[in-house]
Amino acid sequence: MIVIDQSNRVFTLHTRNTTYQMKADRHNVLLHTWYGPRICGGDLSYLVRYADRACAPNPEEAGTDRTYSLNTLPQEYSTCGVGDFRLPSIELELPSGSHTCDLRYAGYELHQGKYALEGLPAFFGGEPDAQTLVITLEDAAAQVAVELYYGVFEAFDLITRAVRVVNRGCEAVRLRQCASLCLDFLRSDLDLITFNGCHLMERCPDRAALRLGVQGAGSVRGTSSHQHNPFVILCDHNANEDYGLCYGAMLLYSGNFQVQTERSQYDNARLVMGIHPYQFCWTLEPGQSFTAPEAALVCSPSGFGQMSRQLHRAIREHLIHDPLEGGRRPVLINNWEATYFDFTADKLVEIAQTAAPLGIELFVMDDGWFGKRDDDNAGLGDWSVNLEKLPGGIQAIAGRVEHLGMKFGLWIEPEMVNEDSDLYRAHPDWVFRVPGRSPARGRNQLVLDFSRQDVRDHIYGQIKQVLSSAGISYVKWDMNRSLTDVWSAALPAQRQGEVYHRYVLGVYDMLSRMLRDFPGLFIEGCCGGGGRFDAGMLYYTPQIWCSDNTDAIDRLRIQYGTSFCYPVSTMGAHVSAVPNESNGRITPLETRGVVAMSGTFGYEMDLSKCTQEERETIRKQTAFFKEHYDLIQRGDYYRLSDPFQNGPYTAWEQVSPDGSEALVSLVTGPAIAAPSFLTLHLKGLDPNACYQINGQGSYPGDLLMQAGYPLPLFCGDYQSLQLYLSAI
Ligand code: GLA
Repeated sequence: MIVIDQSNRVFTLHTRNTTYQMKADRHNVLLHTWYGPRICGGDLSYLVRYADRACAPNPEEAGTDRTYSLNTLPQEYSTCGVGDFRLPSIELELPSGSHTCDLRYAGYELHQGKYALEGLPAFFGGEPDAQTLVITLEDAAAQVAVELYYGVFEAFDLITRAVRVVNRGCEAVRLRQCASLCLDFLRSDLDLITFNGCHLMERCPDRAALRLGVQGAGSVRGTSSHQHNPFVILCDHNANEDYGLCYGAMLLYSGNFQVQTERSQYDNARLVMGIHPYQFCWTLEPGQSFTAPEAALVCSPSGFGQMSRQLHRAIREHLIHDPLEGGRRPVLINNWEATYFDFTADKLVEIAQTAAPLGIELFVMDDGWFGKRDDDNAGLGDWSVNLEKLPGGIQAIAGRVEHLGMKFGLWIEPEMVNEDSDLYRAHPDWVFRVPGRSPARGRNQLVLDFSRQDVRDHIYGQIKQVLSSAGISYVKWDMNRSLTDVWSAALPAQRQGEVYHRYVLGVYDMLSRMLRDFPGLFIEGCCGGGGRFDAGMLYYTPQIWCSDNTDAIDRLRIQYGTSFCYPVSTMGAHVSAVPNESNGRITPLETRGVVAMSGTFGYEMDLSKCTQEERETIRKQTAFFKEHYDLIQRGDYYRLSDPFQNGPYTAWEQVSPDGSEALVSLVTGPAIAAPSFLTLHLKGLDPNACYQINGQGSYPGDLLMQAGYPLPLFCGDYQSLQLYLSAI
């Protein structure tokens, strides 16, 4: 609910459990006065402090009032060059050469329903679910307007933000920075949690108290990256899963991003998040506008668990466009780790034949089916089937798979080209390449200039033809290198600072076109595993391959970190063969199943090599997953332990929204000879209900939560346990 006190110019955004407030003050500066637990309202600007501080500039309107300074006031969208020396949200380059920007309140609009952003991913919601507030700020001298968009999803404690900058003058203005989110705090005793890693070990939480100065994370790789994620948490020092105030902030963007926090001299804090200013410069001709990608905030007064559950629900219900919404996504088998590039149609069909009777419903043909793609040195860019490997083309292989009662899916990597390809030989100028330099290769491939419409049209034409040629219900969209040599032959010198962002817009455009032309198509995102796992991609690709690391034990950490923002239904997870390809570890098949089914669930191994006993285990796993699909994919998620603590086990739990059923999953570490007696405390159950566990007994919910459940003694490395609870 948005409440506007017009006479005091106070804007209050209430969600079910939180309140957010801004106020246009006497000098038309838009102050940020509150974001935290829900309060009844009123004007919270009494919290803002004024003092005469040495060296603090005072704006001209303040006259002789030396206590009024942007240097210390909490800003809703920070400016630069006029007295606030903390992190700026915006930087302009004006015709005069000035980089200064001073923004003052100019008006507001209120709308029912949620705003949309053209060409950019955004949370969506109709009238009953969301409201929109637009506050306009103006820099009168620069003749630039900045519109701040707020989407309020009351039931989800979610507040979205976006920014549109409009050039209202009669000369071009260059935008050097345009953050999506600025959030000031009247305190600085906060921890910052970022989610960092590398290829094969993505999104590991890293927590530290804010120190004086600037800390942050970001990416200049052209993707959101394996190394840092565009999601962060700020929280009380003692916040944990169930306790403490915490704020989750995400950016719905899949390219270069920057998130920074600053703890400033008088113990205030600021969070700024948006497109990375690295090599960014956008020219706004008179009348033109620039829209920064959306950011979204969730505040939880009661710990990380509640924050994650709100984010999960919001992402599932108001961000993802799942063609199978309300239905069940198929259990899949992917041939990558089974065959790599070395396959024939008969080999693929052999795997599918083994998979179908085990309950697997979708066969995904991975890399290697097109062009002269026998290894990763050739073929990217030539999206026509390799008839030597697949005589009869896509139609024939898809038909054989469908004949087994399975659906058929396909891997593509549209953004890339190998020099050894017909496409590159015909259009060497279509790649990112700086004049006079040879572009760097990554996985022996170059990056196509997706900022260009003609390049996108050509690639899209090829891919559309393939997708139209057979019944293809699923596409895995991959992207296997970082961007370098970013320079576009289609733009003049002074507009090269737009190319990184135009590239991302190009990717979004391609994905939108594909979804528009193939309405039932399901697209899985991938970027060398989890290198572009962000809310921007999720808008188009409801699930993303979480990591190229399929080892169940490493995955406990990767999926744990990922779960702070992203729901189980977005995390691509497969059972693969042992010893694991990434780290050589051997884990039981049961354990691999337990971990993968807390993601989107599938297999990535040559099932024809499995024993009868293993096949029986797989058959049971797929049946169990299907039986409990709603609970696993749409249930409320509880982290019961932290795998980074090296405890004796990692456990998590899904609970149905009405508390009538729950699934507890647990995986142990390496075996120890004299294990302790351990008790697991469950969460989220109905305290007044009695539950059967795996069909037996009768356990009151409050006892299972307060007193716990005694764990059996495990024998062997990396054992697992699943407890299915149903209220009697
Ligand atoms: C990337 C993906 C893998 C696989 C290969 C194919 O590494 O993450 O899952 O598709 O590409 O080349």
